[in-house]
Amino acid sequence: MVRLFAALSFASLVLGQQVGTNTAEKHPSMPMQVCTAQGSCTKQSTSVVLDSNWRWTHVTTGYTNCYNGNSWNTTACPDGKTCAQNCAIDGADYEKTYGITSPSSGALKLQFVKTNDNGKNIGSRVYLMASDTKYRMFDLLNKEFTFDVDVSKLPCGLNGAVYFSEMDEDGGLSKFPTNKAGAKYGTGYCDSQCPTDIKFINGEANVEGWGGSANDANSGSGKYGTCCAEMDIWEANLDAAAYTPHPCKVTGQTRCEGVDCGNGSDRYSGMCDKDGCDFNSFRMGDQSYYGTGMTVDTSKPFTIVTQFETDDGTDTGNLKQINRFYVQGSKVIPNSVVSVQGMDPVNHISDDFCKQQKEAFGDNNYFATVGGIAQMGKQLTKMVLVLSVWDDHAVSMNWLDSNYPTDGDPSKPGIARGRCDATAGDPKVVEAAHPDAYVIYSNIKLGALNSTFAAN
Ligand SMILES: *[C@@H]1O[C@H](CO)[C@@H](O)[C@H](O)[C@H]1NC(C)=O
Ligand SMILES: *[C@@H]1O[C@H](CO)[C@@H](O)[C@H](O)[C@H]1NC(C)=O
Ligand SMILES: *[C@@H]1O[C@H](CO)[C@@H](O)[C@H](O)[C@H]1NC(C)=O
Repeated sequence: MVRLFAALSFASLVLGQQVGTNTAEKHPSMPMQVCTAQGSCTKQSTSVVLDSNWRWTHVTTGYTNCYNGNSWNTTACPDGKTCAQNCAIDGADYEKTYGITSPSSGALKLQFVKTNDNGKNIGSRVYLMASDTKYRMFDLLNKEFTFDVDVSKLPCGLNGAVYFSEMDEDGGLSKFPTNKAGAKYGTGYCDSQCPTDIKFINGEANVEGWGGSANDANSGSGKYGTCCAEMDIWEANLDAAAYTPHPCKVTGQTRCEGVDCGNGSDRYSGMCDKDGCDFNSFRMGDQSYYGTGMTVDTSKPFTIVTQFETDDGTDTGNLKQINRFYVQGSKVIPNSVVSVQGMDPVNHISDDFCKQQKEAFGDNNYFATVGGIAQMGKQLTKMVLVLSVWDDHAVSMNWLDSNYPTDGDPSKPGIARGRCDATAGDPKVVEAAHPDAYVIYSNIKLGALNSTFAAN
């Protein structure tokens, strides 16, 4: 729901839109598979790239930072356009600086806190690439998306996220000529929260109106946000998990300002559905389905299957529903069934599910206002895959794994989302207690329905 990505926690790093040459950019390999039928899969040589917000940026003429702690260097960055000319983003040392490694072929490990030469890095966000300069584009209609996860070392308060955002294939390089870095350096991010903490948007620095975050010494936010549709396949730790479509009124990456960003009291007037329509088994009434030793046993790795069914069973139909399965120890585990007063006992997401859920929980159905499941379907045809790990400086991840609103009555439907303590996700607490936390994603597959796993 509320999401604020922690950027680097050391003051010396910042970003720009030229290309720096201090560190060569080498994308860690993460091959995926495309399947047409069970046992008929082809490997693709994909890799990952680190988002530009995490990168070192300095003036093109030397090593001076363009941004320090929470503020821009006003000499290099008197305004957004000049700043983009003066500042360069550099290559990343994935392992040493960010704790991003590949433990085996097709697997990616993201460490939560990485101590490095400059201090430490908190969290990371990477995108899947088809080539050195282009993101791998996904069309998910009438398809299923499958991957394995190990959340056994990802405690309460953290979020290991796998999702799709409707970003440009080249990171905005061709649309915005002042962006010289592009997808190769992880530019062009957007999501349904229309984040305003992004330092460069549309080839310009987000300098205007920039202010430091009240509780994150290395983050801030500017006048502009960057919106686009988002399909959360997986937002989870070892005690909570949710999958959530977030459609937008706009198509593709779109810069917002003012009401359109849906900030604060404008939440239900913005371009995007920030709440989304979530399926969290605990919140939907099955409190013993997901966790250590439970139906889906989070102490061991498992497979997550997400199916995008269309109304006519073709790739060009309208999205009708989103199904979820798990596979663990070669056993297929159907998603938990809704057990909430006033709701049908289903185990998938559809417009009916969303309408009933919003009514049962007293939530605004902005999902329907923005166009519901069909609108999400239109936006699922040109998606970029995002893999991340993060902590939550806004509301301590309570919306995922504890009670939310925090002062809500947990006996009321929809308030309790997980068994975690409300303070466990306080960034100060979780960064100190669990710096070694990590998540491993592996075996990414895309294919026809029932082709990527043994559906029996
Ligand atoms: C700001 O950048 C200029 C170069 O554009 C540099 O001379 C100056 O030292 C920088 N200021 C700080 C505080 O880093
Ligand atoms: C968003 O709203 C909050 C208060 O509701 C305000 O503090 C913040 O500056 C706003 N941010 C933007 C980018 O408008
Ligand atoms: C996928 O398998 C399930 C049973 O596991 C079946 O109900 C469903 O119809 C299958 N879907 C397709 C498109 O084959």
